[in-house]
Formats: sequence, structure tokens, C-alpha cells
Amino acid sequence: MPLAVDTDNCGQDPIFLIMSVTFLQGSSTMSMTKSSKSQPLLLMVAGAKGAVGSTLAVVVAAMSQRPEAILPSLTTAQMLADLLPSKPVHMVGWDWNDSSLFECIKAHGVLSKELWEPYERELAQVKVHVPPKASLDLPGQVDSLKQDILAFKKQYPQAASVLINLLPAAPTRDLNKLENLSQLYSEVGPEDLPDLPYILAAILAGVPIVNFTPNQVEIPVVIKEAIKQGVPISGRDGKTGQTYLKVVLASALKARNLIVDGWYSLNILGNEDGKNLMDPHRAAGKLSNKTDILDDIMGYQVGERYGVSSHKVKIEYYPPRGDAKEAWDVIDFLGVFGLPMSLRLNLQGRDSILAAPLALDLARWMVVLQMAGRSGPVPELAFYYKRPVGHEAPLTFQDQVAVLRELGLWCRERIL
Ligand SMILES: NC(=O)c1ccc[n+]([C@@H]2O[C@H](COP(=O)([O-])OP(=O)(O)OC[C@H]3O[C@@H](n4cnc5c(N)ncnc54)[C@H](O)[C@@H]3O)[C@@H](O)[C@H]2O)c1
Repeated sequence: MPLAVDTDNCGQDPIFLIMSVTFLQGSSTMSMTKSSKSQPLLLMVAGAKGAVGSTLAVVVAAMSQRPEAILPSLTTAQMLADLLPSKPVHMVGWDWNDSSLFECIKAHGVLSKELWEPYERELAQVKVHVPPKASLDLPGQVDSLKQDILAFKKQYPQAASVLINLLPAAPTRDLNKLENLSQLYSEVGPEDLPDLPYILAAILAGVPIVNFTPNQVEIPVVIKEAIKQGVPISGRDGKTGQTYLKVVLASALKARNLIVDGWYSLNILGNEDGKNLMDPHRAAGKLSNKTDILDDIMGYQVGERYGVSSHKVKIEYYPPRGDAKEAWDVIDFLGVFGLPMSLRLNLQGRDSILAAPLALDLARWMVVLQMAGRSGPVPELAFYYKRPVGHEAPLTFQDQVAVLRELGLWCRERIL
């Protein structure tokens, strides 16, 4: 498939160009669908009342009323400008929490009242369903969620829908060996991975997926089904703060042939996500997503000369900070003659404020990708994720930005 490769923007060697063409060929079905220039967007959010979900609800409401308040914070505002309308955007979803969305917004303390109050009317329209009964088995839960999805679609018949998975981090379980859907249904229960019923229901209803969680839902049997149903799927683990900057800095050090000798990363956060991550089984996936990325970028094992990895990542639940997450990085690196140098980075971030616009950006990408006939994993969205799905995802910051730009051009060629 001929693809426009913008060499000015890439500034890459021929290997990179071949790589990016391969990504873009991916599992495209070559079918062309109509532009969604006039289509509303419908976000279906699993975990809609959590810190990120409830912040996303306010972002969505603001986008529909005053796009100029949100668009400058979106990467897709430029890249997909003529492919998507900025509004309207609607949100629906599921959550166990039986408090109202307003109570949840207040409880998470991410946004002060004057920031969400102007959108009270829009927020009141966000329908959040109770998840399927825990007593239902996996096929039962998938069926129940699929009925919900069809009902949501009926409510917004013109809209292009996307599932955004914002469930809590779950313990990891290796499901890679499962061979087909019936084996998955018979051997795995929703309690093993609560995200699975949402993912399967979305795929069966033809709805593209953003997996913002660290949970590995993109197992081979799920990917196979997504390709079969023409559903693009992206993930895993939104790259919002510390890891985003780690990719930027590691890529910069690599570009200058400076050797990373050690990297110590500490996070303190006091929201539910932080509390949940105190369970080592639930934190395992997140820690591995945050850790593996450095060796992958550098192309060697950091700390090899010590016989042990000197890339350390720690997450601490620290209630006083709430959603205002803080991260420290100590980076030890070597120059010519092996002379040591060191760098300190202190990020005082806001977890959900960084995450919510990314989730909206990703939803916009997924609609455009589906429109362009793409299905299965989308490794080109590595810019947004700690552990991108699919093969040969770009590793360095420069490559991730270049590949993303290529993806936008490819979508534009196919749709316009
Ligand atoms: N904030 C960030 O910067 C960031 C970055 C990367 C990844 N993430 C991931 O995003 C996810 C959401 O983060 P958060 O801070 O909003 O977490 P949260 O704990 O505040 O929200 C999770 C929500 O999911 C709901 N929930 C739990 N089980 C459910 C089920 N089976 N069905 C429906 N709802 C259910 C909970 O009631 C809760 O409201 C987490 O997995 C987190 O690790 C967040």
C-alpha cells in the first residue's frame, strides 16, 4: 500500500521508514467508510465514576459547550482537525459506585466546584449503568453489557462510539495460551479479569477500544476476535506523567550517546488508584509497564555492569496528596571516558487532569481509525501508552511522534 512518508518530519533512516510503513499497513481492511465530520462522539466508559472517569465527564461536557476550553489541550485538535467534529461529545458508562456523578466529582477533589458547575445540565445527562451482577458468568456478563451498549447506541443513533476502559488495576493472569473464544468462556471468569466482559461486549458490538488501564486485555484470542469484527484496539496503560517524561529524557540521552547507568523513580499519590496499587499483585502489571520501557528505549539492560537492574520504580500511596501526584527521578548517566553525571526531576502533577484529555484524544483516534478501515491492535499509538499493543511499536519519543503523525496522514488519505 503506498503511504506518504514525511521525511522532513521524521528525519529518520531508511530502516525507520520501512518500519513505519509496516505499522501502517497493519491489519487494515482497505474498506473506506464515510467521514464522521458531522458525527457526534459517544464515549462508553467502564469505571465512569472514578477519578479519571468523572474528570473525563466534565471534560466531555465542557467540550460540547465550549470546545475552545478543551481543544487546545488535545493532541488530536491539529492532527485530526478536518476528520472529526469537536462537538457534540456524549458520555455514558458503568460503575459500581452508587453515589451520583456529582458526588463522585466532589469526592475525588480533582476539580473545584466553579470548574464543573457551568456544565451541570450536561453532566446530569450522563447515564451510568450498574455493572452486570457478579453472579453471572463471563458469557452472561458479556451479553448483559452488549445489551447496554446497544441501548446506548439507540439513545445516540448518529454517534460513533468508543469504549474507554478505566477499571482499577487488576492482578495479572497469563491468558495468552487460550486458543479460542469458547475456551476463554469456559476457563475464565469475570472475577479473573473484570475488564474482559467490557472488552468482549464492545468487540461483539463493533465498538473500538481504548484500554487506559495497566491490565492486559489484549490477549491473542481477544485480538483475533477484534480483527474478525473489524474493531481497532489500543492500549495499554495511559502514559500521562512520569513515564511520559522518562521516554522523552531517555530518548534525548540515547540520541546523544550518553549511557544511562541507573534511574530511580519514586511516585507518591493519594487517590484510589494509589491505594489500589499498594496491593503487590495489582501493582505488578503497572510496575512492569513502567520499568521495561527504559531498557527497550536504550537498547541495553540498565545496570548490566552491576549484574542487577539499576532501574528502580516505586509507587507509594500517600493520602495527603490525593490526585496531586508527585514523582521524583534520579538519573545517573555516563559521558566520554565513563565520567558520571546526574540529573534530578521533580514532577508535581495532577493525575486525572493529565489523564482525561488523553482518554478523549484516544477515543477520537479510535473513531478515525475505524472509519479508515483499521482493525486489531494499533501500535502506532505508542505515544499515549506505557505498554503499546501490537508488534514493533516505536520506542523513542522521536519515533513515537513521527509514527503518530504518519498515522494521521494515512487516516486522512483514506477518509477524505
Ligand atoms: N490517572 C492516571 O494518570 C492514569 C495513568 C495510567 C493509567 N491509569 C489507570 O486508569 C484506571 C482508572 O484510574 P482512576 O484513577 O480513575 O481509578 P479509580 O479507582 O478512581 O476509578 C475506577 C472506577 O472503576 C469502578 N469499578 C471498579 N470495578 C468496576 C466494574 N467491574 N465495573 C464498573 N466499574 C467498576 C470503581 O467503582 C471506580 O469508580 C486505573 O486502572 C489506572 O491505573 C491512570
